[in-house]
Amino acid sequence: MKRFYEGKSVLVTGGLGFIGSNLAIRLLELGAYVTVVDSLIPETGGNAFNIEPVRDEPKLSVRTVDVRDVLAMERLVRNQTVIFNLAGQVSHIDSMQDPFTDLEINCRSQLALLDTCRRVAPQTKVIFASTRQIYGRVPEEQLPVDERQPPSPVDVNGINKLAGERYHVLYNNVHGIHTSVLRLTNTYGPRLLVKNSRQTAIGWLIRQVMDGETITIFGDGLQLRDFTYVDDVVEAFLMAGANDTANGQVFNVGAIEPISLRELADLLIEVAGTGRYELVPFPPERKAIDIGSIYVDDRKIRRVLKWRPQVDMREGLRRTIEFYRANRAHYWGAPEPALA
Ligand SMILES: NC(=O)c1ccc[n+]([C@@H]2O[C@H](COP(=O)([O-])OP(=O)(O)OC[C@H]3O[C@@H](n4cnc5c(N)ncnc54)[C@H](O)[C@@H]3O)[C@@H](O)[C@H]2O)c1
Repeated sequence: MKRFYEGKSVLVTGGLGFIGSNLAIRLLELGAYVTVVDSLIPETGGNAFNIEPVRDEPKLSVRTVDVRDVLAMERLVRNQTVIFNLAGQVSHIDSMQDPFTDLEINCRSQLALLDTCRRVAPQTKVIFASTRQIYGRVPEEQLPVDERQPPSPVDVNGINKLAGERYHVLYNNVHGIHTSVLRLTNTYGPRLLVKNSRQTAIGWLIRQVMDGETITIFGDGLQLRDFTYVDDVVEAFLMAGANDTANGQVFNVGAIEPISLRELADLLIEVAGTGRYELVPFPPERKAIDIGSIYVDDRKIRRVLKWRPQVDMREGLRRTIEFYRANRAHYWGAPEPALA
C-alpha cells in the first residue's frame, strides 16, 4: 500500500465523517497527499475532531465544500490519482422524510462528480461507498447474498445509492473512468456517529451501553447482521484504489461472521461492563423499512483483491469503547431525540 499511495494525491469526499476520516488518517500514514472534502452536514457523522490526530499534517488539506457544488468540485478533482467517494446522506429514515435531499446528494451529485471527472480528470480512479441496503429484504434461504442478487431497495436511500453505484459502473464501462463500488455492511469503530440513531443502530447502542442505559432491540433480536470493523473497511478501499483488477467491479464487503442483534447486545454489554437490553415490538414506521436478517457473501473481494477482515467483534468493540472513553466529550454532544 505504501508503495502505491506514497506521494500520490487523493481526495476523500465525506472525509470528516466516520469512515472517511479513518481512511484519510490511514492515507496520510501511507504518505499520500490528502484532500478532504466535507460540508459537515449536522445530523451526519461529520465531525472536525475526527481528523484531530492529523490536523497539523502538512500533506492534509481540508475543504469545506458541498459535493452538490459542481464548480467547486471541478477545481478539487483535477490532478487526483484516486477519489474515495464517501460523501453521502446516510439515514434511511431521513431519506423517507426528506427524499429530495437524499436524491440530490446520493444520486445527482454522484452523476455530477463522475461527469466532472470525464471532462477534467479522466485519469482519476473513483471508489464509491455503496451499501448492502440495496438488496432490501432477502428470503432467508437466499442468504448470504452475493453481488448477483437482484437489488430490491426498501427505501429512498437504497434506491439512490443503487443509482449512484450504477453511474459509477456506467462511467467505467462507457467513458473509461476507472471506478469500483464497495457495498458496505454495518461498519463500526472509532469515530462512528453516536450522538443520534440516524446513521446506524450500532453507534446508538454503544453510546447507551456506555451510559449504563437499557438498549431497545426491535423484534425478537434474532435478526442476523454482519458488522465490519472500520480498519478492515479502510483496507478494502485502499486495495480497490490501488488495484486495476477492481476497475468496473462491484464488491460486497462483509464481516468475519454474521451475528444476531441479541448476541451483539450481549457482547457489547460484556465488553463495556455496563448496560442491559430489552426486546420491544417494532414501531410501524421502522417495521415498514426493516429488512429482517441479512448478511453478505464477500468471496469475490477475497478472491480478486485478497481482502479479508482481520478484526473480530470482541476486539473491535473493545477498541471502539476505549476510543469513546478517551474522547467522549467530542462525540456525545447533546443527545438528540432518537427517531422512533
Ligand atoms: N457506516 C456504515 O455502516 C455504512 C454502511 C453502508 C454504506 N455506507 C456509506 O459509506 C459512506 C460513509 O458513511 P459514514 O458511515 O462514514 O457516514 P458519515 O455520516 O459519518 O460520513 C458522511 C460524511 O459525508 C458528509 N456529507 C454528506 N453530504 C455531503 C455533501 N452534500 N457534501 C459534502 N459532504 C457531505 C457528511 O458531512 C459526513 O461527514 C456513505 O456514503 C454511506 O452511505 C456506510
